[in-house]
Amino acid sequence: MSRVVKLAVIPGDGIGPEVVAEAEKVLEAATAASDVTFEKTPFSLGAGRFLDTGDTLIDDDLAAIAQHDAILLGAVGGVPGDPRLKDANIERGLLLKLRFELDHYVNLRPSKLYPGAAGPLADPGDIDFVVVREGTEGPYVGNGGAIRRGTPQEVANETSVNTAFGVERVVRYAFALAERRRRKLTLVHKTNVLVHAGGMWKRIVDAVASEHPGVDVDYLHVDAATIFLVTNPSRFDVIVTDNLFGDILTDLAGAVTGGIGLAASGNINPDGAFPSMFEPVHGSAPDIAGTQKADPTAAILSVALLLDHLGLGDEAARVTRAVEDDIAARDATPRTTAQIGDAIAGRVRA
Ligand code: NAI
Ligand code: MG
Repeated sequence: MSRVVKLAVIPGDGIGPEVVAEAEKVLEAATAASDVTFEKTPFSLGAGRFLDTGDTLIDDDLAAIAQHDAILLGAVGGVPGDPRLKDANIERGLLLKLRFELDHYVNLRPSKLYPGAAGPLADPGDIDFVVVREGTEGPYVGNGGAIRRGTPQEVANETSVNTAFGVERVVRYAFALAERRRRKLTLVHKTNVLVHAGGMWKRIVDAVASEHPGVDVDYLHVDAATIFLVTNPSRFDVIVTDNLFGDILTDLAGAVTGGIGLAASGNINPDGAFPSMFEPVHGSAPDIAGTQKADPTAAILSVALLLDHLGLGDEAARVTRAVEDDIAARDATPRTTAQIGDAIAGRVRA
């Protein structure tokens, strides 16, 4: 009996559809010989959809997407500052809404410096770590408000929401991941200043650590973590942190491992109650959209994360290996988005 995986595909805007097309080629190549069939449903969401219909993410979209086993997303968003998109709020109304509604409490962002990738560090060492960023809490939940708006007395509150339940489940995921890797876990927070939330994160990590005596646990303030990510990134294995710190650290992590064209991510609901969503970290890059200059590698590595999440470890490994080989063979010759996708798909098939 062949297994059918229902995949919702959200190509999105700008370079989103360009990189997703290549990711789909590679997915096809990776599963051609296996008994898994991907049944894909495209969803037209993003700035383009908003301009056409005025809708960002309606309940029917959400209900339909939730019926799938997994989601592949390119990138959404128009040209920053486009006045027609003033009310669209793609980031909150679409991306964050998907993450919150589908309970993507793990935002998984691996950072690996592949041999041959052009990172900015002179002596980077062996960079291979994963940031486990909490995805449904922190200051991103929209708990706050403003009063006396537009006056000199304006007050704006943005409350960071941290629940013991929410922190414990993501911390448990991070420990389990560390057990499968090099058994080192670093909590990043700012416990010296954010004493309430930071204190709870620290206590929960300490409590869960007692169940994982084989995992070496350490703690860094977020400001110190940014230093080490540049001066000694090879010290990290698994980093667990909150939504805001994780957002910032992973952009830095992407930069030290060869840039935005390579950084993949998973928005994961580990319990499987909802489909998990896999996407490159980058945005829709309107500045290069339509020029075939986008690097599809981040989207392709997101497919590897997707395959891994679905329990298709062999297929995932073939994609990762093909990407590694492609990166190692890169030279200064420019290639189009499709040429990179074809080359990687070819290596997967070989
Ligand atoms: P961006 O990531 O789209 O672009 C930043 C810079 O990186 C640009 O110069 C772009 O050309 C380059 N770049 C990005 N991806 C690339 C790739 N695969 N290959 C080569 N170069 C690449 O971020 P920006 O410009 O801040 O945002 C553009 C739009 O994307 C906005 O509407 C923003 O809201 C949206 N966005 C969406 C995200 C998502 O869908 N998850 C994440 C980040 C931004
Ligand atoms: Mg970000």
